[in-house]
Amino acid sequence: MGDPYFPYAGNGGYDVQHYDLDLTYTPPDAAPAPIIGQLEGVATIELVATEDLDRFNLDLRGMDVQSVTVNGKQVPEVAPPAAGQEVDGRAYWHVQDADARVWELTIQPRPKLKAGRSATVVIAYGGETTRPTDIEGALYGWVTTRDGAMVVGEPEGNMTWYPVSDHPTDKATYSFEITVPEGKAAVANGLQPRRPKTRGGWTTWYWDAPDPQASYLATASVGDFELRHSRTNDGLPIVDAVDRDLTDAQRATTDASLALQPEMIDLFESYFGRYPFNSFGAIVDDDSVGYALETQTRPVYSRQASEGTVAHELVHQWFGNAVSPSRWQDIWLNEGWATYAEWLWSEESGGDSAQTSFEGIMAIPADDDFWDLAIADPGPFGLFLGGVYDRGAATLHALRVKVGDEAFFAASQEWLVRYDDSTGTTEDFEAVFEEVSGQDLDAFFDVW
Ligand code: ARG
Ligand code: ZN
Repeated sequence: MGDPYFPYAGNGGYDVQHYDLDLTYTPPDAAPAPIIGQLEGVATIELVATEDLDRFNLDLRGMDVQSVTVNGKQVPEVAPPAAGQEVDGRAYWHVQDADARVWELTIQPRPKLKAGRSATVVIAYGGETTRPTDIEGALYGWVTTRDGAMVVGEPEGNMTWYPVSDHPTDKATYSFEITVPEGKAAVANGLQPRRPKTRGGWTTWYWDAPDPQASYLATASVGDFELRHSRTNDGLPIVDAVDRDLTDAQRATTDASLALQPEMIDLFESYFGRYPFNSFGAIVDDDSVGYALETQTRPVYSRQASEGTVAHELVHQWFGNAVSPSRWQDIWLNEGWATYAEWLWSEESGGDSAQTSFEGIMAIPADDDFWDLAIADPGPFGLFLGGVYDRGAATLHALRVKVGDEAFFAASQEWLVRYDDSTGTTEDFEAVFEEVSGQDLDAFFDVW
């Protein structure tokens, strides 16, 4: 897609409509066996060509491709050509390294795809699963755990478990059929269209996510989860998957935080309008990737879900998920809002007010290098730096003070309506706030 931070993630020339992922997963054996799992997948991808396509790519990392069909026709594999060489005009697929972390699955279908036409691409693939790391060395993607897998793909880690156009600008709907050893639970985005089915020692779990999602927000986590189903007063389904092996202290913290989800949804709906998806809930794993992720409708938490983190991941459903960043440099639009939500929740629940939290940030001395980062362009190694989160939140609070509560919340809701199921940039964000407030905000955004 040519994102300046992750140029090989995502692909042009088409727009994915739907991923149907049929997965079979065998977790690692008991210790001392290595922490390696086995994944077999069939991905059925519905896409629309956005231009006449001679060939196109999908991203995949660490998996072997077994077969490819396009519109039901088998596409044969060829060896990747040497640099500067072309394969001839027949149908083919091959896999080539783009860089250390991205492999490109190139598919040349025949007949060619015509602009505006849809196509169904079926890819059978599989391989050993490990514990992939991102550009900074943090675990992400299909993170194999002793009892299953914690699946958290931000920013471009989900190509470790299915062929994908791995960039937020190509949102799609998802459906999942995940087969795991009996006793394990597989938990993905959205709702279960039917009960799990067990046969011959294997259980298949079904999940449907009918709201478009950015690729980094897909999950299909596997573990020794207990599933709990409930509803908010408004009838929104909540599905929580809580690891049976949490410690008593982790479980107590988690249970107390998750019990607050309906109340948090009420608060944030009052600020930001209707909750954007068909369900919410949590996946709380006794393993840890070192952070939580706002996977759509169903955030993943490491070891426990604390109250502030639940508020944080919940507000990402509006800011980050319903409206996603157009470029990874716009990450402050996710993390600033989610951090601001923690401030709002604290204020609501009798802790520090948002103003007090803001003053805490402003008390950091001006010569501290905390202030050096350009938060709307933190660089690919800076996506998750404290400044993106805390200065992002401080920027929003300062903006609220500058334009006043009425314009601030009206503009926030306008942003969410205008870019719903889509993406926006920092420039788009400034434009909405200028339009709604009637103020020139160039100087404000330059300073902040
Ligand atoms: N977006 C996540 C959150 O703020 C954090 C993801 C951190 N990812 C990472 N690779 N370090 O909840
Ligand atoms: Zn966040």
